[in-house]
Formats: sequence, C-alpha cells, structure tokens
Amino acid sequence: IRAEFSQAVQSVKSPADLEPIRVKFLGRKGLVSTSFERISELPKEQRPLFGKALNELKKELETQYQALAASFKDKEAAKRRIDLTLPGRKPFAGRKHPLLKVADEIKQIFTSLGFTIEDGPEIETDFYNFEALNIPKTHPARDMQDTLYITDDILLRTHTSPVQIRVMQRQKPPIQMIAPGRVYRRDTPDASHSPFFHQVEGLVVDEGITFADLKGVIQAFAHRMFGPDIKVRFRPSFFPFTEPSAEYDFSCVFCKGKGCRVCKNTGWMEISGAGMVHPNVFKAAGVDAEKYTGYAFGMGIDRIAMIKYAIDDIRIFFENDIRFLNQF
Ligand code: PHE
Repeated sequence: IRAEFSQAVQSVKSPADLEPIRVKFLGRKGLVSTSFERISELPKEQRPLFGKALNELKKELETQYQALAASFKDKEAAKRRIDLTLPGRKPFAGRKHPLLKVADEIKQIFTSLGFTIEDGPEIETDFYNFEALNIPKTHPARDMQDTLYITDDILLRTHTSPVQIRVMQRQKPPIQMIAPGRVYRRDTPDASHSPFFHQVEGLVVDEGITFADLKGVIQAFAHRMFGPDIKVRFRPSFFPFTEPSAEYDFSCVFCKGKGCRVCKNTGWMEISGAGMVHPNVFKAAGVDAEKYTGYAFGMGIDRIAMIKYAIDDIRIFFENDIRFLNQF
C-alpha cells in the first residue's frame, strides 16, 4: 500500500488529481480501511501488531496527503497574493469640461449678486428668437445672425435672448436673472467661430433701472472673474432689442507682453452686447413699459473661457481631445 501510494502521489499534477487518491487509499472503503476489516482473518497473537502497523501507515499516508494538498493551496495563494510595492492603478475619473467649469463660475458670481438662473429651449420659434425681440421678418438684423432653420417658423436659437421674453411672460418685475445655454449659427468653423457656442443672457427689470446699473454689474462680474486689474470697455453699437445698445470688451489678461494670440494683440477681448430693454420688447412680453425699465446683456462663455485659460482656438473645446480635457 505504501509503495502504491507514493507512486500515485508522484503522478499528481493538479489539485484535481488529489481526490481520487484520497478515496482510493484513505476513503471509507479505501485500501487502509478494508485492511482493518481483514484483521479478524489473522491468528489472534498477530492481530495487535498488525493493527498497530496499520494505524501507523494510516497516519503516515494522511500526513503526506495533507502536506501535498496544502502545497497546492500555497501555490494558489501565492498567485493571488497582493504585492504592496506595486504602484497603484488610478481609477479613471471623468471631470468637468472647461466650458462647464466656467459656466458654473459665472452662475456662482451672478447668483451671489442676487440673480436667479433661468432656462429656455434650444429649439425656438421665430416669435421668441426674433419677432418678440423687435426683429420683424424684413429686418436687416436677421442677416446679422445666420440662422439654422428647421421649418419656416422653427429654428435653432441664435442667441439666449429669447429666454428674456419667456421669463417676462411668466414673471412680473422685479426680474433679475441670467440664462446660460447653447446657441447655434450657420458659421464656418475657424479659430474664433463655431456653429454652436455658449452664451449667458442677463436681464434685470424693475422701476428705475439705468444704464449705470448695467455697467456696474458687468464691472463687478469682471472683477470677480478675473481680479481687480481687469478693465471693461463699452462701445456704442446696435441691437434691435435694446436702446441704447453697446458692445463690451474685457482687457486681455494675456496681452501684457507681445505676441498675444488670444485677442490678436488688440489688448481687448470682445465679450458680447448689452443695452437698455427696448419698449417694443416689453410690449411683446406684456411688461408695462411706462412703469418699468430694464437692461439686458449677453456674454460669450466660450470667450470668457478663452481669456481665462489662454486658449486661442475655440474649436479645441469641441474636439474632445482627452489630452486637452485632462488639463482642467
Ligand atoms: N443677443 C445678442 C447677441 O447674441 C447679445 C445681446 C444680448 C445684446 C442682450 C444686447 C442685449 O449678439
């Protein structure tokens, strides 16, 4: 039995080979057990000696068998053992897109100034995008904004200004709101144009609101966003939905030296338009133009982000290049 057992043990290659050996030698009907049953066949005086020898054999085989089984367990465990000296594997975590980060910051600044955050649809009607904003069908200003039409009457909003109308229709003054969102124009992409980009609309309506309030809020915003050294400049301009109208620029923080591509060496970055709400807009939205005045402004989120991060090509925001996005 001993010789047979050691031969069987030598042929073991995997843990699966173990069990048949246990059954054959150490099982209830195995060779050892059945040998015990045959003790009665021996003459009385030989029985104790034989029984003792058999017990020893049983113990010996059991010990060997257990050692063998344990050695397999150790090998398995070694494979699974954790090497604490290995460098860790970083879980891949997503992060906020730089435009979303800037939009969050803009929202935070305006809410701290008492503005609410409003929302409107990106698919708009001609009425909200143009008509109610004092831009009739024949108005040349429609050419200012190359519109992507879905039907004659339904379009992708070219600016966030339609949200002004929607809010004034559903809420009585005082109104002090911003509306961030995506807008669309039929533009060929280049370093400063994209067929879609992002704006924040601002609207404040109450009794006695003046252009000075508008300037003050834009100034306060610029300081919070870019620090006390930023300069704000208003230039006379025209929009059908504001009168008087202006465009405003922020000084380019990267233009202290030469060779600034972010604002093409002008020292200024055009942000958007602004002005006092036109009485025709109040009329279209059902606001009493005798009682209330208001100001409105736009704000290019992409442009703010370009100044903030010294980015000279708007297209990079929309390419989803992970090497770019990982930097924020
Ligand atoms: N809607 C204008 C644009 O997209 C910006 C603007 C907003 C101008 C509000 C005046 C008042 O260019």
